[in-house]
Amino acid sequence: MTGKKPAGKVPAAGVRQSNGSGSDRGGGSPVSSSTGEPTTAAASSSTSESISGENANNNIEQGRELTSQFGKLELSQLGKDVENLSKRAQKQMAVEKRHLFWETQPVGQFKDRNNQDVAEGSIEPSGDLASVRQEPYNLPSTYEWSTCDINDENTMKEIYTLLTNNYVEDDDNMFRFDYSVEFLRWALKPPGYFSDWHIGVRAKGSKKLVALITGVPAKIRVRDQVILMAEINFLCVHKKLRSKRLAPVLIREVTRRVHLKDIWHAAYTAGVVIPTPICTCQYWHRSLNPKKLIDVGFSRLAPRMTMSRTIKLYRLPEETSTPGFRPMERRDVPAVTHLLQNYLAQFQVAPVLTEEDIEYLLLPIMNVVNSYVVENPASHEITDFCSFYTLPSTIIGNDNYSLLKAAYSYYNVATSVPLLSLMSDALIMAKRHDYDVFNALDIMHNEPFLKDLKFGPGDAHKWELSTSAIRLGRNVAGDGESTSGFFLGIRHTTCLCHRAEPSFSPPFL
Ligand SMILES: CC(C)(COP(=O)(O)OP(=O)(O)OC[C@H]1O[C@@H](n2cnc3c(N)ncnc32)[C@H](O)[C@@H]1OP(=O)(O)O)[C@@H](O)C(=O)NCCC(=O)NCCS
Repeated sequence: MTGKKPAGKVPAAGVRQSNGSGSDRGGGSPVSSSTGEPTTAAASSSTSESISGENANNNIEQGRELTSQFGKLELSQLGKDVENLSKRAQKQMAVEKRHLFWETQPVGQFKDRNNQDVAEGSIEPSGDLASVRQEPYNLPSTYEWSTCDINDENTMKEIYTLLTNNYVEDDDNMFRFDYSVEFLRWALKPPGYFSDWHIGVRAKGSKKLVALITGVPAKIRVRDQVILMAEINFLCVHKKLRSKRLAPVLIREVTRRVHLKDIWHAAYTAGVVIPTPICTCQYWHRSLNPKKLIDVGFSRLAPRMTMSRTIKLYRLPEETSTPGFRPMERRDVPAVTHLLQNYLAQFQVAPVLTEEDIEYLLLPIMNVVNSYVVENPASHEITDFCSFYTLPSTIIGNDNYSLLKAAYSYYNVATSVPLLSLMSDALIMAKRHDYDVFNALDIMHNEPFLKDLKFGPGDAHKWELSTSAIRLGRNVAGDGESTSGFFLGIRHTTCLCHRAEPSFSPPFL
């Protein structure tokens, strides 16, 4: 599911990453069953999730051994290599691990990775609406399904509370996403949304919301074919109910409700490796408020750097440099749509966005999304635009600071100026609005500007995009290398944009 890492920490300029754990795990630590809290024993409705795979377990052990040996090596000039190897070992473990739920699902399977005979396209023919199960999947007896009415303020507060306390954390449990209510509303109510795709689980007695999964409809072009999909997001299980196979039940239930709308494909991202990503990417972070970032442990002071030199290093101009740079307004929607549609056409996989979508997704909303256009001062033509969305993270257990204000790069199209200049102006605007850090993925055409604009790679590992019910080409990042393009945040989170590549061909991964 939509896998993000909150504010994955970043080294100060020139410093290697501090955390070489290489874990791809999103979310907090599993909760022990000895907590005395309610449990959801055997929540999954699947009968095919049997425990086996001794070989896989051996491989996992070997992988762990390898990783721990790597961890013991001196972090010298070899540090980076070791860390990469460690990450590869982790990835290999994930690939070889049994996935007792995902192996039963119509998704690309790891075992087919090198099978040239496995064709691209839908894994199963679109289903028969009449055969879709009418009743919700079974939950443990003390829990019940609850469709969340996101127009109801109280329900929104409940969703906010569940996520703010239980959603994605970084691997060291120092930061946790803190999506605002306004943001959640924006993400969950795009044009054409279905209210019954906002699925909660409540404790029957207390009615407390303990789990969530959501979907919104999205049109995604895959090569030449436009497919109506569900974009799945906000999969969350309360910390006290983890590791009890509740997530597969949530995923099955949202799948059932998606099928009921005669939709048979889905796209989602995850911070864990599950079968089978069509691409992988990584966050990069640009310090805007280096002192705070260092104080809260988000980044570290580089060797031989003082705080004042670090502050100077990341200082930005007060004013933007592109003539005609201004906030996007409603009248810009047609021009921005046109720019973005042209831009997205170059990718193998990309969202299909109409003016209605652009108006919804990009018109600025305070503390949710900021968008700027470049209006040619002479012709008044809109030639470029950039945007970022706001996703703060709770700083866990810090006496001085409680919130990290992060901007996330969204859609950017440069035609009259270099992308680097446009993004530099975006950084200046983010700084002006008091963001602490500006995050971007190494996707689309981002990579060339990342280093020049002093972004550093995070230690929050990779972000995987997967699709359900469809096989999509080869994952060029399947060997753990970072990709240079092809995956794009849509509605702050998910997918998609495969860069057109001549060598891009089956088999997938
Ligand atoms: C993600 C989360 C809901 C999983 O719940 P859990 O209690 O840890 O796991 P469960 O025992 O219920 O289910 C395990 C199954 O779910 C799968 N799973 C775990 N995280 C997943 C994810 N992000 N997307 C899809 N499937 C996931 C596992 O791979 C496993 O299936 P498998 O055996 O086929 O591999 C929970 O850890 C959580 O709320 N984490 C914090 C928020 C978060 O990370 N959300 C996901 C954002 S991508």
